[in-house]
Amino acid sequence: MSESIACIGMGVIGCGWASHFSGQGIEVHAWDPDSKSEDLFKRTIEQAWPSMEKLGLAKGASPDLVVFHKKIEEAVENCSLVQESSPERLELKQELLSTIDKACTTDCVIASSTSGYLVSDLALHCSVAPERVVVGHPFNPVYLLPLVELVAGPQTSVSTMDRAEGIYSNSGKTVLRLEKEIDGFIADRLQEAMWREALHMVANGEATVEQLDLSITAGPGLRWALMGPMLTFHLAGGEGGMAHMLDHFGPSLQSPWTRLEAPELTEHLRNAVVDGCSEEAAGRSVADLVIERDKGLTAIIQTIKNLNIETSEKDTNDEGSD
Ligand SMILES: NC(=O)c1ccc[n+]([C@@H]2O[C@H](COP(=O)([O-])OP(=O)(O)OC[C@H]3O[C@@H](n4cnc5c(N)ncnc54)[C@H](O)[C@@H]3O)[C@@H](O)[C@H]2O)c1
Repeated sequence: MSESIACIGMGVIGCGWASHFSGQGIEVHAWDPDSKSEDLFKRTIEQAWPSMEKLGLAKGASPDLVVFHKKIEEAVENCSLVQESSPERLELKQELLSTIDKACTTDCVIASSTSGYLVSDLALHCSVAPERVVVGHPFNPVYLLPLVELVAGPQTSVSTMDRAEGIYSNSGKTVLRLEKEIDGFIADRLQEAMWREALHMVANGEATVEQLDLSITAGPGLRWALMGPMLTFHLAGGEGGMAHMLDHFGPSLQSPWTRLEAPELTEHLRNAVVDGCSEEAAGRSVADLVIERDKGLTAIIQTIKNLNIETSEKDTNDEGSD
């Protein structure tokens, strides 16, 4: 693959992107103001590579494809995509994107990994070619989870969106394309709605952190790896499907189960959630948990791949028997 990609901001997400692209045989030019980021990348890729290998590396894949630069201008020149993954602070990102806008070629796509800012706000100071700015929102760990939410701003050109979609898809990502910007995009809006409810329950002493996690990992979370919340409820309606589900449960959904206001993040709530996570981790460090998570995710992704192969083989056989 001839693409060359710049990863700007090499924390959790930047290192994840660089691992993903290098596993796909793509050259990565990295830059971060913190010199420690090179060590973080080494630790990330060392830990990520076995899982990536299990799921299939591309020809030419190598961690050596990631090269760190001293100057941001050197990292972004001659790239087809710049993936910005700096801290989630609007002014910092605006300034950084403006620097990138001035330094890269005009046909280069500039994508922000932001978890929620709108392209129109991010590209405010990009005066050279704001039409090539998009949001390319990934999911952690970026080297395993395929989803990227690709979001256009009011000035983004269709050809930029097409190029971005092509680069991400060719690297094995699943692209969810949003032609119009919306707050929180799609997946984060869903995640945040659930997290808001969870924080309320902790704040009110209604559930512990551990109970909240178990309620998902032993329940709906298992279904969500296979079907989203909509198709899951379609099946929950029995033979009547979603129509029965809505007619049956619709009236009760009007009851005030959902607290749409954000809970106040008091010191007490913050500490209760932090302490709850630490109790649940039961001595396991973040690094231990990352290894556990990646092992599980790799097994789930492999199982889903095999299920898809079985289904397509069955479809081919069924077609053949007509
Ligand atoms: N962590 C997640 O689960 C997640 C998921 C999806 C998207 N994101 C988004 O990705 C972005 C990065 O998040 P993260 O979790 O990797 O944060 P992080 O704190 O792990 O990493 C941020 C990196 O940016 C670097 N940095 C600081 N100032 C910079 C500057 N001026 N220019 C370039 N780099 C700079 C830091 O040195 C650090 O290495 C954020 O926009 C975040 O919303 C995070």
